Amino acid sequence: MDSSFRASLCMEVNAMPCLLLIFGSEGDLAQRKLFPALYQLHLRDLLHPRTQIIACSRHPFESEEGYRARLAKRFPADGGVGKTESFLRRVTPFNGDFTDVTSYHLLFDKVFELEQRSGITPENRIFYLALSPDMAVTATRHLQRCGMIAQGSVVFEKPFGHDLKSACKLNDELSRYLREEQIYRIDHYSGKETVQNILMFRFANILFEPVWNRHNIDRVEIRALEELGVEHRAGYFDHAGVVRDMFQNHLILMLSLAAMEIPVRFQGDAVHDEKAKLLRCIRPIPAQETGKYFLRGQYLGYREEPGVAPDSETETFAAAKLYIDNWRWAGVPFYLMSGKRTGVKCTDIRLIFKRVPESIFSPLTAADLAPDQLRLAVQPDEGFYLSLQAKHPGPKLCLGTLEMGFRYSSLLNVSEHMLTAYERLLLDIMLHDRTLFMRRDTVELSWELFTPVLNQWASGDPAGGPLHFYPQGMPGPEALQHFLAQ
Ligand code: BG6
Repeated sequence: MDSSFRASLCMEVNAMPCLLLIFGSEGDLAQRKLFPALYQLHLRDLLHPRTQIIACSRHPFESEEGYRARLAKRFPADGGVGKTESFLRRVTPFNGDFTDVTSYHLLFDKVFELEQRSGITPENRIFYLALSPDMAVTATRHLQRCGMIAQGSVVFEKPFGHDLKSACKLNDELSRYLREEQIYRIDHYSGKETVQNILMFRFANILFEPVWNRHNIDRVEIRALEELGVEHRAGYFDHAGVVRDMFQNHLILMLSLAAMEIPVRFQGDAVHDEKAKLLRCIRPIPAQETGKYFLRGQYLGYREEPGVAPDSETETFAAAKLYIDNWRWAGVPFYLMSGKRTGVKCTDIRLIFKRVPESIFSPLTAADLAPDQLRLAVQPDEGFYLSLQAKHPGPKLCLGTLEMGFRYSSLLNVSEHMLTAYERLLLDIMLHDRTLFMRRDTVELSWELFTPVLNQWASGDPAGGPLHFYPQGMPGPEALQHFLAQ
């Protein structure tokens, strides 16, 4: 891939000096994802030299130096000693009870002091609320009352509600304290290089768009299969299930990028407008037909996992068949599929094209010629792969399926440029670029689609279809084959 002539475009834009406040800084997300991502941005000189971080936690810390020494242990030794130290100098720990307004007043003093000292303006204040949804709302309310978020950005992690009603309630509540353009709702899938590539692949080439429609495509399959099980997250997952955990956000995001119309420009609201338009075209599933359009499964042994109810009906696997009722996609089924403990880690989007109408290669009939297939691989083996019929060397009529592939890993120096999802998203927040974040309407439209299905399952009505069990290490329940073939 020769991208040298685009070198100027491939440069990351430098952000202004920011004050980043991480709430829940001792939590799993902050420790496993946020600090390592910020550290990498620091190593790549993508943080402004004056950017500061306040690590807010309800857990008391030993001393500022003790805290920094503990944090340093999280970073790989090869970053360079000087680099680690200069990163740690950016970080100030702050301990408080964030249900109590007094802590916010004390925090505000600290914010003010750091901003003055580092020349940071209030619109470059970022509150990253790595907290449970209830705590995030409480924190937002207090921040607003203390006058800290009249300007600046506030970042929220999923879940954005549990169903349509709770998502609307949450959004209504946040809108009392914040303007929509201050809100950054994270879906870490949108920060993955290959998910970002979907729009480039479709709209920076002339080749694919003319065939990207019902005239040429037979079906689309979007999968996110995982090897891992519920691990230590049963407390959350057993109340959520895979439809809330993966479909409502990650899968619907991939679906909307793969299926939406071309946005006016590659920028914030222009992209969100097209996503929302697409989501409005997805055919709602009538409650009584849930079992026809959705299949759910649970891996054997799930009920014995620590923290899982022994009679849990929570789905660890689901497959859905959706239709998009617009001119481009009328009649084309979109299969969505995600599950835990399926024996593979694989996320991709596959477009399966129609077969040729006739074969001139007698005795092969059109049905003998495998349909062309385009696979956008999100992970692992990030890249894209096109399966075509072509002549094999040898006898005259020797046809077979050949694959043309492109792997990101084959690019020279790719690791130098590839940011992880959290690095990308953190940098975009500092740049005030909301393109990769979820807008309120798209979150609610997605819940609108899945809430009736979840309600149907919760009601126990047989129309929801049975819960199928599958052995660990299998790519879903046996009934999946029948469901897909239907
Ligand atoms: C998270 C889900 O959003 O995504 C997890 O809550 C899931 O249950 C994870 O395992 C998958 O993310 P990735 O990046 O590993 O595909």
